[in-house]
Amino acid sequence: MNSNTIIIADSLTELKKIPTESVDLIFADPPYFMQTDGVLLRPEGSKFSGCDDEWDKFEDLKNYENFSQIWLSECQRILKPNGAIWVIGSMQCIYLLGAIMQKLGFWLINDVIWHKSNPTPNFKGTRLCNAHETLIWAAKSKKSKFTFNYKTAKELNCDIAEFSRGKRLQMGSVWRFAVCSGNERLKDENGEKLHNTQKPLALIERIIAISSRFGDTILDPFAGTFTTAAAAKKLGRKFICIEKSEKYAKFGRARIEKIAPELNEIALAKFDEKPKKAQISDMIRDGFFILGEKFYLEDKFAILQSSGKLEFNGEICDMHSLCARIKAAKSARLNGWKHWKVRRNGEFILIDEIRQSYRERNSN
Ligand SMILES: C[S@@+](CC[C@H](N)C(=O)[O-])C[C@H]1O[C@@H](n2cnc3c(N)ncnc32)[C@H](O)[C@@H]1O
Repeated sequence: MNSNTIIIADSLTELKKIPTESVDLIFADPPYFMQTDGVLLRPEGSKFSGCDDEWDKFEDLKNYENFSQIWLSECQRILKPNGAIWVIGSMQCIYLLGAIMQKLGFWLINDVIWHKSNPTPNFKGTRLCNAHETLIWAAKSKKSKFTFNYKTAKELNCDIAEFSRGKRLQMGSVWRFAVCSGNERLKDENGEKLHNTQKPLALIERIIAISSRFGDTILDPFAGTFTTAAAAKKLGRKFICIEKSEKYAKFGRARIEKIAPELNEIALAKFDEKPKKAQISDMIRDGFFILGEKFYLEDKFAILQSSGKLEFNGEICDMHSLCARIKAAKSARLNGWKHWKVRRNGEFILIDEIRQSYRERNSN
């Protein structure tokens, strides 16, 4: 599956057809098994349409557990070795889903609280207002080197509480987003709310931006209104979406058609790009260092070799371990780029500054 794919069918059968180790990231918003019954009325008497849909009904908890066990184990098979999954759920299901995931060998990375800034009130005042949902972020296994665009996450960390003296802080595990409403909420042909549990686009965009790369393939086994597909397309990722309702899929498709990719610094995770490796031998070739010149550290100097190593008292050493030795550091190596200096126009300059100019010249 190299391009975007929409499958209108049951996930339990369709997931089995997806090749092993073919997907980078999964976002799953499965049935919750809410077990709601009866009509919920607002204080003024109007009917509140919560999640009482047929797709959320299961015979009993055992039945729901079996269903969850099947789709979660298929997801684990489908993920690439370094892949990861996000599962969102309410209190009715998230503990069970988390337990199944751990037993399957998924490796928990974080649980995230989606704090709803505009939650549905508890109309009868019989318990707390349920103002959050939980997301579990887990890697395929303990060995997985999962994607985390740390600096991109920091950049997205725009909650006012997350700024300290004008600096962005690490992204935390409580995220505040409004429940999907207004123009974002998809309407059916009668102008009625299409789906009871459409998730905010911004929530899924954040997930995709921080835990996948440009061009990755994202799978959503319970696509609903295709929020995951919309976010994936916007951020330049490929998607595979499975949804069993024809009606949701019809509107979902139309929604995706209207999305244009926005390949900005967030989508491309520019903040997390590692600088190109600078080899000393290349820097000598390009005239940034001179073969045989002196590298200075405190009151000592060593002579630069063509290999990038340094000759010190007749011994050939790498600059990092020699740096640690001269500075009598506890560790065997110190970052030599931050300590060795060379002379340019009579002044001592840190070799890291020279590396920086080399990188700048070679950045295009
Ligand atoms: C919680 S909703 C997902 C909402 C979605 N994240 C969105 O933003 O619109 C779950 C969806 O899974 C679908 N679904 C439930 N069981 C399914 C199954 N066995 N196979 C495929 N889709 C299923 C339902 O029709 C429903 O649209």
